[in-house]
Amino acid sequence: MAQTVLVLDFGGQYNQLIARRVREANVYCEVKSYKTPIAEIRAINPKGIIFTGGPKSVYLDDSPRMASEIFTLGIPILGICYGAQFLVYGLGGEIGAASAESAAEFGRTDCKFDTSSPLFNGLKKESVVWMSHNDYIKKLPDGFKAIAHSAKCPYGAIENADKKFYGTQFHPEVNHTEQGFDMLKNFLFNVCGCKPDWTMQNYAEIATKELREKIGNGKALLALSGGVDSSVACKLLANAIGSQLTCIFVDHGLMRKNEGDEVEAAFNGSGVNFVRVNAGERFLGKLKGVTDPEKKRKIIGEEFIRVFEQEAKKIGAVDYLVQGTIYPDVIESGLGDAAVIKSHHNVGGLPSYVDFKEIVEPLRLLFKDEVRKLGSALGLSDTLVWRQPFPGPGLAIRIIGEITPEKVAILQDADAIFREEIASAKLDRAINQYFAVLTNMRSVGVMGDGRTYDYTLALRGVTTTDFMTADFSRIPYDVLEKVSNRIVNEVKHINRIVYDITSKPPATIEWE
Ligand code: XMP
Repeated sequence: MAQTVLVLDFGGQYNQLIARRVREANVYCEVKSYKTPIAEIRAINPKGIIFTGGPKSVYLDDSPRMASEIFTLGIPILGICYGAQFLVYGLGGEIGAASAESAAEFGRTDCKFDTSSPLFNGLKKESVVWMSHNDYIKKLPDGFKAIAHSAKCPYGAIENADKKFYGTQFHPEVNHTEQGFDMLKNFLFNVCGCKPDWTMQNYAEIATKELREKIGNGKALLALSGGVDSSVACKLLANAIGSQLTCIFVDHGLMRKNEGDEVEAAFNGSGVNFVRVNAGERFLGKLKGVTDPEKKRKIIGEEFIRVFEQEAKKIGAVDYLVQGTIYPDVIESGLGDAAVIKSHHNVGGLPSYVDFKEIVEPLRLLFKDEVRKLGSALGLSDTLVWRQPFPGPGLAIRIIGEITPEKVAILQDADAIFREEIASAKLDRAINQYFAVLTNMRSVGVMGDGRTYDYTLALRGVTTTDFMTADFSRIPYDVLEKVSNRIVNEVKHINRIVYDITSKPPATIEWE
C-alpha cells in the first residue's frame, strides 16, 4: 500500500474535498474521525496528518478534541480553520471568540504570505483565500510564528517549523483559495516528504494481487448494473479471479435504449461467467397500475432482490459477494439521520439472503473520479467509464404516472435522441447528467394539417460535482432546438417539449 496521509475529521463541510485534493496530488489518504484512538493512528503510521475544519468553537464543552498525545507522535500536522484553532488551543495558545471581538471573516479575503515558509514556497506573496470563521487565533503557543496575515487576521497561517506543525485559518482545499492546491502540495511534499506514488495503475496491480490472495479458489458473485462502479469492480475481479466470478445482470426492462445489449456485449465473453436475466415482463407486471413514486421504487428494489436471489441459488454456495461501494459511501455512512427524500435502490445494497461468507468491496477506498481512472487503466471503454449516473429503478422514475410498455418505448427513443445530440454537441462531459422525462400530461398540437393530443416530454440537464446539489445546465438554444425538432418528428406521441430550469434544491435531479 502507498504511504498514507490521515485526514482527521472534526465535522467540517469540506472533509471529503481535502481528501480528494490530497489524492489528486497522487498521495493516498484516508478520512477518519477525530475520535480515532491514538494507537490506531500509530498503527497507520501516516506521513502527515490534516485536521479538518468544524462548526464548533474550541471552548465549548462538547467541541471535538483529541488527546494531547497526538502532538507527541513526531508526525507533521496541518490544521485547517477549526483544525488550526484546535492545534493552537491544544498546545497552550489562545483562541478569541467572535462575540467578544470583531475578527470574524467570511468569503474571499486578500492574504499575504511569508514565502520563506515551506508551506508557501514558490507561491505568489499575495492572493485571495477563502475564510469562513467566527473564532480566531489570538495568542500563539510557544515555538510558533505567523506566516500569513489578512487585514483582520494577524495569524492567517502559522508555523512551528521544528515540529512541522502548520495551521491555516483559511481553507486551502476550496477552489476559491487561489493558490490552495499548491499549499496542500507543499505540505505533502515539502513538509511531510510524501512521494506521489498513488496512481490507478499501481492500485490496479496491488488490488488484483490482494483479491487473488483473499479469494483463493473461492467463488464470487457480483450484481452488475452496467454503471461505472459495478463495471469497474467486475473488470478488476475478472482480472484477479477470471471464471471464479459470476456476474448477474438483471435487466428490468427499464434501461435506456439498447443499454441491456451494450452491457452484455461489454462483459459476455470477457472471461467471467456472465448471466443476463431478462426480467422486463416480470417488473412491468408488478408495476402495473402503480403511480406513486415511492411505491415504484420499493417494488423495483424488492423485485430486484427476488430475481437476484433466484439466480444466485442456481449457482449454489458462493464464498464472496462483491459490492461496488465507493469511498464517499464509506465516509458518509453513519453521519446523522438525514430526512429520507427518496428511497434509493442500489444494486450494492443486497441483503443477507444469499448464501455467502463475506463481502468484498474492491472500490471502497476510491472516489468516483478515481474509479473512472481505474476503469480506463483496466481497459474499459469510454462509454462505460464515462457513463452518466443512472438510477437503479431506471426509466420507471422518469415516466410520471403509470408505466406501460408503450411509454417505456416512447421514452427510450426520445432519450436516445437527446443523448445523441448532446454527445454530438460535445457537451456530454460538461453536463454531468442529462435525460428525458415522460410527463403524464397531454396537450393539443398541430402536425401536418391535423390536430394532435399527445404527451409532453421534459428534458433535464444538470451540472454538479456531488449530486447533492445541482444547477440546471445552460444548454445552448440551438442544441435544444435540434433535439426538439428531431424528437417531435421521429418519436410518435410526443408533440411538446419543455426544458427543466430548476436547480437542486429546491427540485431534485430525477422527477420522482
Ligand atoms: P435526486 O433525484 O435525488 O438524485 O436528486 C441524485 C442522484 O442520484 C441518482 N438516483 C439514484 N441512484 N438508485 C441510484 O443508484 C436510486 O434509486 C436513485 N435515485 C436517484 C440520480 O440519478 C442522481 O444522479
